[in-house]
Amino acid sequence: MIIAVDGPTASGKGTIAKALAAHFGLPHLDTGLLYRAVGLQCLLDGGNPDDPAAALAACTFPDTLLGDPELRSEETGGLASRVSIHPPVRKALYERQRSFATQPGGAVLDGRDIGTVIAPEADVKLFVTASVESRARRRFLEMQEQGRSVSLEEIAGNLARRDERDRGRDDAPLVAAPDAVVIDTSRLRREEAIAAAIAAVHAARARR
Ligand code: DC
Repeated sequence: MIIAVDGPTASGKGTIAKALAAHFGLPHLDTGLLYRAVGLQCLLDGGNPDDPAAALAACTFPDTLLGDPELRSEETGGLASRVSIHPPVRKALYERQRSFATQPGGAVLDGRDIGTVIAPEADVKLFVTASVESRARRRFLEMQEQGRSVSLEEIAGNLARRDERDRGRDDAPLVAAPDAVVIDTSRLRREEAIAAAIAAVHAARARR
């Protein structure tokens, strides 16, 4: 069984994907980490993330970079969003994601284009979304917990900019697959969102 979980940043898609993987006993790949690694590698190389050649060169990042705590930062998220608009970068990361998706026994992948490009044949497609306000509030609380001081307005502005770039790009834009089940987590607690996702997987499988 392949489960595709797509959605904008801070929608709760990562939390849901991880919980589904644990619940159904499947391996999980957070594909955003790959784009984040490319963005971070580009920075380390002194390259410009908006330059397709520099971004493509950064796709040869070492696997050890995937464990770097800096990968999770807002700054790296912004870099990832910038390198991800280049078609050669998306092509370079395709095979790794595709083979993870098609491994025997199935997998859960979360990202932006899993249900549309990486695994259009996925058994279950979820599109996890939430209002900018609720996503910003969640990210704000998370950062406060980490002792980092950023204003709510700044976070909301960053999220909106990133959404616009991810939705507006020509190659594999962030969009719900026509056959995706949409889960809006704006008013859901963590456990409620996970329960809704598990129910959606059961329902989607029953329809097949
Ligand atoms: O999910 P995330 O915030 O870690 O993703 C960071 C950026 O990477 C996101 O803004 C766009 C890009 N990305 C993508 O283009 N395709 C994916 N499948 C996953 C992430």
